[in-house]
Amino acid sequence: MARRRQLYEGKAKIIFEGPEPGTVVQYFKDDATAFNNQKKGTITGKGVLNNRISEYLMTRLGQIGVPTHFIRRLNMREQLVRQAEIIPLEVIVRNLAAGSFAQRFKMEEGTPLPRSIIEFCYKNDDLGDPMVAEEHITAFGWASPPEIDDIVQQTIRINDFLTGLFLGIGIRLVDFKIEFGRVWDNDVMRIILADEISPDSCRLWDADTNEKMDKDRFRRDMGEVEEAYQEVARRLGVMPENPSDFKGPKLVH
Ligand SMILES: Nc1ncnc2c1ncn2[C@@H]1O[C@H](COP(=O)(O)OP(=O)(O)O)[C@@H](O)[C@H]1O
Ligand SMILES: [Mg+2]
Repeated sequence: MARRRQLYEGKAKIIFEGPEPGTVVQYFKDDATAFNNQKKGTITGKGVLNNRISEYLMTRLGQIGVPTHFIRRLNMREQLVRQAEIIPLEVIVRNLAAGSFAQRFKMEEGTPLPRSIIEFCYKNDDLGDPMVAEEHITAFGWASPPEIDDIVQQTIRINDFLTGLFLGIGIRLVDFKIEFGRVWDNDVMRIILADEISPDSCRLWDADTNEKMDKDRFRRDMGEVEEAYQEVARRLGVMPENPSDFKGPKLVH
């Protein structure tokens, strides 16, 4: 296959020009970063697993009517998605206190929140992705009030659906980060879910043992990072029982 033109290289993915106008290819790397790029490493096989996990979750969300960028998986590490004008916000949903939220409010990790809380951060590595309010978002023109309403409505549906989906496989969805982008269908602008949903962008705890099954294992040097990602994929039914199989081309269909 001819090498496509690279449009952007991020921390976890590379974006290539797509085969048709209005599409791009997301290539999932094994690179892992944490604490705004201060900690760097690799998680072997992560890209393959995140490609599959994000494909699965975006497809399921599409089935309940959440518009997403996902079109189809191309191979082990690449998926074709609709090219979107990314809204420069990290939309964070928190169901239980964890990570920086637990620190900020001096809460013990795992404390249930009175209700799910949606936070916005301005997606800007140089600034360390600072948290922002709707005031900043509208004043700086990152999104309009109706766009924010749309994002919040979609985010609530995504959280409810994913919480149930993960609970069904014995996993607590503690919190997660999503991104949205704008696409144009003829002259109508729509907001769609973009980027990825994976153990890189979610906190996932085993429902029985509270064992972490996400990037916190890498952030906190807990070990068994690959195994945790594999277990999430296995429970979602997107990984073959024999892990050695997932390196081969057999999975592509
Ligand atoms: N459908 C899409 N169209 C265009 N850009 C996208 C789309 N989905 C995700 N992106 C962007 O591509 C990049 C993905 O690479 P990633 O490694 O996550 O980058 P970053 O280091 O900026 O988080 C992100 O900047 C993300 O906003
Ligand atoms: Mg990213």
